[in-house]
Amino acid sequence: MNKGTLSEMPPGLTTTRAPFIEAAQANGELYIHQPYELYSKENHDTWSRLYARMQERWERYANRRFLEGIESLNLDPDRVPRLEDVNRFLEPLTGFKAKPVSGYVPAYLFFDCLGRREFPTTITVRDGRTLDYLPEPDLFHDIAGHVPMHTDRAFAEALVRFGSSARNAADRVAGIRDHDERMQRLTSMIKALARFFWFSVEFGLMRERRNLKVYGSGLLSSYGEIEHCIESPLVQRYDFQLEWVINQSFEIDRYQPLLFVVDGFDHLFELVGELEQWMKDGKLDNVAPGEPAVSEVDLESFLQGGAGEHS
Ligand SMILES: [Fe+2]
Repeated sequence: MNKGTLSEMPPGLTTTRAPFIEAAQANGELYIHQPYELYSKENHDTWSRLYARMQERWERYANRRFLEGIESLNLDPDRVPRLEDVNRFLEPLTGFKAKPVSGYVPAYLFFDCLGRREFPTTITVRDGRTLDYLPEPDLFHDIAGHVPMHTDRAFAEALVRFGSSARNAADRVAGIRDHDERMQRLTSMIKALARFFWFSVEFGLMRERRNLKVYGSGLLSSYGEIEHCIESPLVQRYDFQLEWVINQSFEIDRYQPLLFVVDGFDHLFELVGELEQWMKDGKLDNVAPGEPAVSEVDLESFLQGGAGEHS
């Protein structure tokens, strides 16, 4: 390939290699637009291959609401979706919309977005040479894994209720004068919220007409793990127990060895309510140490967010 050809190639919007994203991050822009014209042929091909190979696995393992959601979003199997198009179908159903972001969204902002029915959505597509290995979120995970679930009213309400808990957490520490105590409690609450999110929204299983089905988006967007999580004898599956979930650490770079099962999305909604109550009662103030780590950026986002609400 000569130099001229290289420079004429569109840069594309590939995860970790997208100049548009790098520029947005350098400018401190978190909420961005989706520059659709920048998607390369490779990006569209990657979307198409990921989408095609999931069909049969979704049919077999995904919950009914997800399958209906995929239908109602009218995703094009051959082209990267335009978020505007996705939102045109999604918003009338539950009020949710996909909101393009340039990268990591600090915990408070992420939860707060959910509370406002906005879902922070990555716009880059993973490298087509590594369909399975995915250290970062990408558009396939967000749009094909998360967004179809947002078409379901009960699930959407659970998500909104969960998102609102960020404000409660910020409120709870607002009055604590001692800096170390404030940070320790906040870290613990964020850890508990992240664990709840992980074992439900990202990696949750559910019972559906006596069968076990997948509703967690980390599973719905993984060709290998969607089968493994249901079929493998190596996975431990238990009824969702809040006291266990908020104290259970996890690792992100392997198939999950432990998963929790809910009875449906009304049940999930009730569990979020319980989580809320536990936060009020102080039961999230000192959860077991371990993963996930809570970063300075996450803590700061809560302190700022809480301050913003009260100023
Ligand atoms: Fe996710």
